[in-house]
Amino acid sequence: MSPTRNFIVRLAALAGVLFLGFRYLVSPSIPHRCPGSTSSLQAPVHNPPHHDYILTTPRLTPRANATFLIFAYNADLERTIRTVRSLEDRFNMHHGYPYVLFSPEPFTPEFKRRLRVLTPSPIEFGLIPQDQWTQPEGIDGPRAQVVREKMWRNKARYMSGKVWAHEMLAKYKWAWRVEPGVGLTCDVLVDPFVWLDESGKVVGFTLATKEDEKTADSLWDYTKDFMTHYAQHLATDNSLAFISDSRGQEYNLCSYLSAFLVTDMDFFRSPAYSAFYNYLNTKGGFYYERWSDASVLTLAASVLLKRKQVHLLEDIGFQYGAYSRCPKRANVWENGRCACGQSTRFNDGSESCEKIWKDFMSLADRFGPPPAPPARAEGQGILKGL
Ligand SMILES: *[C@@H]1O[C@H](CO)[C@@H](O)[C@H](O)[C@H]1NC(C)=O
Repeated sequence: MSPTRNFIVRLAALAGVLFLGFRYLVSPSIPHRCPGSTSSLQAPVHNPPHHDYILTTPRLTPRANATFLIFAYNADLERTIRTVRSLEDRFNMHHGYPYVLFSPEPFTPEFKRRLRVLTPSPIEFGLIPQDQWTQPEGIDGPRAQVVREKMWRNKARYMSGKVWAHEMLAKYKWAWRVEPGVGLTCDVLVDPFVWLDESGKVVGFTLATKEDEKTADSLWDYTKDFMTHYAQHLATDNSLAFISDSRGQEYNLCSYLSAFLVTDMDFFRSPAYSAFYNYLNTKGGFYYERWSDASVLTLAASVLLKRKQVHLLEDIGFQYGAYSRCPKRANVWENGRCACGQSTRFNDGSESCEKIWKDFMSLADRFGPPPAPPARAEGQGILKGL
């Protein structure tokens, strides 16, 4: 570049800077006029200078005695945030239900800060006591598993039993269990807590799937033993026929998805459920066989509750990994502004137990509960009174 051209370029740049500076100084005094209006208006403001421009959602008083229940590790922070955002946006901003989060490790200040900013609802962060979390004494040491496996098993046991008695949950009747990673795909138009409560329901499930066989090896045998020894706790007109295609002989592995389940916790604190959980807990299967909380809760609900106390929440659209459901009814899908397609959902697939549930319920509605199976020589009276 020649010295003359260099000089001209610099001069042009200087002129440009001076021009822009002049415009900046002068422009605030130039009134902006709207076409067709005689009064001068302010320019649109994108960064409101006063705090009273900031919109806040009104705080609401929850209608039901209920809370969200989330089990999360610190490492789940980002997924937990996405889940709570989704619950807030699609449901809770209109209802104001509180949250209770649990972990066996103390939540970090950063974890709490990042969650508290998402909602005006109260959030409590609970620590699971070590003695309730870890493998109980008497469980065979040599069979100890790798750390991740151990954590899974500790969690399955804790979320089947001790969680319901935790002081942070004791003040609520209903819990909506939500696993980090769950996202709502439709607005929830009807408050499920209120609806279930007013309809006399105890469990509201969103999906039922076939469990891995590993999770239930001897669980069914122990459940049958329990039914023999604790017949006083069994409900008549229960949903045993939903989980067993052979009148209580075999378990078909159907279980409610525990990652997204609405439950009346008073049931899980009842003498009937406590007897069931305590009986199973003495058998060690949470550790030896990888029993899942989903199977345990499902078996309990299927034999200890009347079938009409369990309800399939069909109108809730959600996604959780490979699991999903999308409302079928056109008005629910449209009014719920659903982001899911109705045709390719898990709930209709071969691994889903939805058809079994619906067939069972409609048959029982028409013909009453299935007859008790013939008495067996071994374990007589297992199904007495069913
Ligand atoms: C909410 O439910 C719990 C458990 O049933 C109960 O102890 C508590 O008194 C209830 N609170 C209100 C305000 O009804």
